[in-house]
Amino acid sequence: MVVHTAAQPSHDLAASRPFDDFDVNAVGTLNLLEAARHHVPETGFVHMSTNKVYGDRPNTIPLKELDLRWEYDDPAYEDGIGEHFPIDQSKHSLFGASKVAADIMVQEYGRYFGMKTCCLRGGCLTGPHHSGVELHGFLSYLIKCNLQGKLYRIYGYKGKQVRDNIHSVDVARFIAAFWENPRSGEVYNLGGGRKNSCSILEAFERISALSGKKMVTEYVDKNREGDHICYISDLRKMKAHYPSWSISQSLEDIFGAIYESWQERL
Ligand SMILES: NC(=O)c1ccc[n+]([C@@H]2O[C@H](COP(=O)([O-])OP(=O)(O)OC[C@H]3O[C@@H](n4cnc5c(N)ncnc54)[C@H](O)[C@@H]3O)[C@@H](O)[C@H]2O)c1
Repeated sequence: MVVHTAAQPSHDLAASRPFDDFDVNAVGTLNLLEAARHHVPETGFVHMSTNKVYGDRPNTIPLKELDLRWEYDDPAYEDGIGEHFPIDQSKHSLFGASKVAADIMVQEYGRYFGMKTCCLRGGCLTGPHHSGVELHGFLSYLIKCNLQGKLYRIYGYKGKQVRDNIHSVDVARFIAAFWENPRSGEVYNLGGGRKNSCSILEAFERISALSGKKMVTEYVDKNREGDHICYISDLRKMKAHYPSWSISQSLEDIFGAIYESWQERL
């Protein structure tokens, strides 16, 4: 089994180093696909793609504003965003564009060469060993700031932006399920789904209840470029293709695990 998780994962770095970004994310993926095709063509190939392949188009879904979060105002998205959502004609960042190139190439090696490839379009992948930083690793960084009493900056959308969070154990469990029963040229939106979704404001409440500490925050009235307002992965295709798989780690489990880990590490 080849599990390809190497990447240049930063949007901001990509803009300042477009050739490096494309070399690592797109050409690096092509290198691995070609190596696999020549040496282990029967072997399953899982690629960590990203929900950023959808660019900022998820922001065109009608939304309603609730007290603590944005929510889809279209019943078609009650279960979240599915794999048929369009990936082009939206703003991706250069990082998102290089990941689109890799994603399409991985699908093509499945369709054209019949290899057992799959793209996992990740939402927020996290877990106790995540070392989040301000621009990357939302919950991990937020919980670390809470424990340290460090300033957490909210960038736009009133702090009501929503992400779905999945524990790394559930990511690994899905990869294992694919390994046991691989398919060809597949794409899955891999996130925590609706039940594991939370906004920044909701995350503040959860961690403060757990730690007993108030968040120290500052609001910046400008959202990050192309940032999703509300992103929830629709997990129905994953569950239909792999019925033995489901989310085993709830949002509460994830908060608890990250909180305990930072307590030990800090
Ligand atoms: N963490 C998330 O929430 C998330 C969400 C969606 C998608 N993803 C995807 O998951 C994958 C892993 O992301 P992560 O968050 O663990 O980031 P990360 O930065 O922790 O991991 C990326 C790894 O790639 C390695 N790498 C970079 N360039 C390389 C090269 N040229 N050759 C070999 N290795 C190289 C780095 O050393 C690093 O260990 C990436 O493809 C990312 O786009 C992550």
